[in-house]
Amino acid sequence: MRLDKRLCKSTGFTSEQATAFILAGAVTVEGEIITDVRCQVHKHTDVRLNGTPLIPRPYRYLLIHKPKNTVCSNIDEAYPSVFNQVGVPDHHELHVVGRLDADTTGLVLATDDGHWSFEIIRPEKNCPKVYRVTLSRPLSEACAQQLREGVLLQGIQQPTLPAKLTFLTSTQVLLAITEGKYHQVKRMFAAVDNRVVALHREQIGEVCLDVEEGQWRALTAAEIEAF
Ligand code: URA
Repeated sequence: MRLDKRLCKSTGFTSEQATAFILAGAVTVEGEIITDVRCQVHKHTDVRLNGTPLIPRPYRYLLIHKPKNTVCSNIDEAYPSVFNQVGVPDHHELHVVGRLDADTTGLVLATDDGHWSFEIIRPEKNCPKVYRVTLSRPLSEACAQQLREGVLLQGIQQPTLPAKLTFLTSTQVLLAITEGKYHQVKRMFAAVDNRVVALHREQIGEVCLDVEEGQWRALTAAEIEAF
């Protein structure tokens, strides 16, 4: 990780504060003063601020129940940031693992561990995500079968990967997919001439949504390691 990031992570400084200390020559790396904020350091590199060793804080891993009309970013945009809305403290270093649209509700994972989130979203991992999908009109069994086998999304040559689809009612289904293309679920149902009117993520891998809307909790060690 970059030296300025390591300083932020160990101290809670903003990146402007970290940069100021580094440029002022207050930071040493393995005993040498370094003024390049981009200098790469590892977890075990000896980094000191005015002679005091900086110990990296442990990473954070959160499960959030995202309310409708919030965005999966750190800052408020057209809608409030999900982190601000549910009251996650010190969220500026966190990022969401697999964003949801503003109008989608449900399970969001967030972390400051980039390796962990990459592991979850890399396509070869085939990590299943389960969505409860409410449709504008009844879904036929023939269309359901097409969705299970793979449909062509507008502008993409390759069909979607095989999916699991179970009916809850004629207009509500559970869909499990292993991909995460932009607006994937909405585009899949558009491909069979239907329209998603409500979308809710219930599960990612083995992690199920188990807190009320607008609440969050830390993931357990077993949940973190399961990915
Ligand atoms: N697919 C979508 O279309 N939207 C989401 O928010 C998540 C998956």
